[in-house]
Parts: sequence; structure tokens; C-alpha cells
Amino acid sequence: MMTLVNGLRVAYTDEGQGAPLLFIHGFPLSRESWSKQVDGLAATHRVIAPDLRGFGASEAGPGATSMNRFAEDLFSLCLQLHTGPLTVIGHSMGGYIALAFEKAYPLFLSGLVLVSTKAGADAPEVAASRRETARKVRSEGIHSVLDAMAPKMLAATNTDLHMAQAVRHIMESANPHGVENALLGMAERTDERGYLKDIRIPTLVVTGADDSIIAPKESVDMADAIPEAHLEVIPHAGHLVAFEQSLAFNAALKSWLSSHRPSAMAWPSASQNIQP
Ligand code: MLT
Repeated sequence: MMTLVNGLRVAYTDEGQGAPLLFIHGFPLSRESWSKQVDGLAATHRVIAPDLRGFGASEAGPGATSMNRFAEDLFSLCLQLHTGPLTVIGHSMGGYIALAFEKAYPLFLSGLVLVSTKAGADAPEVAASRRETARKVRSEGIHSVLDAMAPKMLAATNTDLHMAQAVRHIMESANPHGVENALLGMAERTDERGYLKDIRIPTLVVTGADDSIIAPKESVDMADAIPEAHLEVIPHAGHLVAFEQSLAFNAALKSWLSSHRPSAMAWPSASQNIQP
């Protein structure tokens, strides 16, 4: 489906009925990376999975896309779709956005799931390298980003070529402007580690045991810092854990979803700032 969000055409999936789940994909992916969760959860939940601006079939906007800007887009989409309070599930960059969403609109979350992500900011040299990559994407396109990232998305021991091709195919749909803008946005994001202790909603933290892009230790640290967090480490899985080990991931997510009750607060609330 397609709609206009903050002036941009945004593609999204909205399937099933029940407690709503918002899936936020990572970089440089698309909602396709959640296809196995849409299939696995739409029988019991309303599953919403957008393509972030500049990814998949969604239009790119101008300039650096901050994590807050992405979160504002998603919030506007939720308002349009009348979702009510929802569980926000973010993978990697989608996790940075999920944290920004939780911080901006805490009353609109009934649960938070942080997948293969981290709460810290980029070290200065990492931020500088992202800006350099953004310059390269502007002049040469996205192939160098794909070449660098695609081989690391799955566990090093995974020999499933069909799956590796499917992952590369998902990444190829990214718009060069979207990739450049997201790189600049990630480079400027703030350190949220000190904020984790203030998260007041049930949280599931998931990592692939063999993630070589974001170390599993980051997930262990987040789960330690968030008061109501549960940690799941999924074996034989790299960075794209939900795609690579979808059965184990979906089982862990379903079990966690059934173990806590979504909060029953009114939504939207007048006390929230609903202007992006
Ligand atoms: C992602 O998968 O979203 C990225 O690896 C995140 C990042 O580059 O920090």
C-alpha cells in the first residue's frame, strides 16, 4: 500500500488483525526484511511494516535523515492508520529509530523490541567514515555499501546462497539519496545509553549470537540497563537474525508478546506532542 507521509510517498504493509505491531527495518534494507514476520504473525496481530523514507518503494526526502525524523514519519503513519498503542520492533538502524520513537512518544508504545541494535552514538572515526561513505554514495551509487554490508548480514557459517541472494536483492531496492541521507543521520545520532534506565515499558532485546556488524554484547548491555527487559540470544544467526532464523525469532517474539499485556491507555493522548 502507498500513502503520503510528511509530503513523501511511503509504501507499507498492513496485514492481519489484533494487537498492532510496527516493524522498522534496518539499513540499507526494506520492509521485505520483515516478510517472514508478516507471514508468521499476521494470523494473530495487526502487522504494519513501512519502507522508511528513501528505502524500498518509499520516496527519499531532502538532507540528512535524523533518527527523530524517521520516528516522526512513523508516528504520522500510525496516526493515519489509527493503530492505537502498539509494540514497536526495530532492527539495527530501525532500533535506533525505535529508541527515538519511544523517547518522543512513550505513551504510544505498549512494548519495545530492540533487535541487533545498540544505544550508543558513533565514535568520531565511525561518524567520519559514514560521512565519507555518504560522499561516495552521492558520486558512485550504492554498490560499495552493498558490497561491504551484504556479506556480513548473515552468520559467517551460513552457506545458504539463496538466502544471501535474497538479502542482497532487498538491499538493492534502496534509493541512493535515501542511503546517503540515512548515513548522515546515523552519523549525527546521540548517545542514548543513559536514557535506557528510564524506559518504562516491557522490552525484548534480541541478538543473533554470531552478529558481526553489531556485537551481541551491545544487546546484553541494553538488556541490563532497561528495567523491564528480557534478552534472547538466537544461535546460528548473524545481523539479520529475524530473516535468517525466522522460526526461532518468531517463537521468541510470540512468547514474549503473550507474556505481557499491552497497556490500555487512551490513544492518542492530548498530553502528547503529535506534531512531527
Ligand atoms: C543496520 O543494519 O541498520 C546498520 O548496520 C546500522 C549501522 O550501520 O549502524
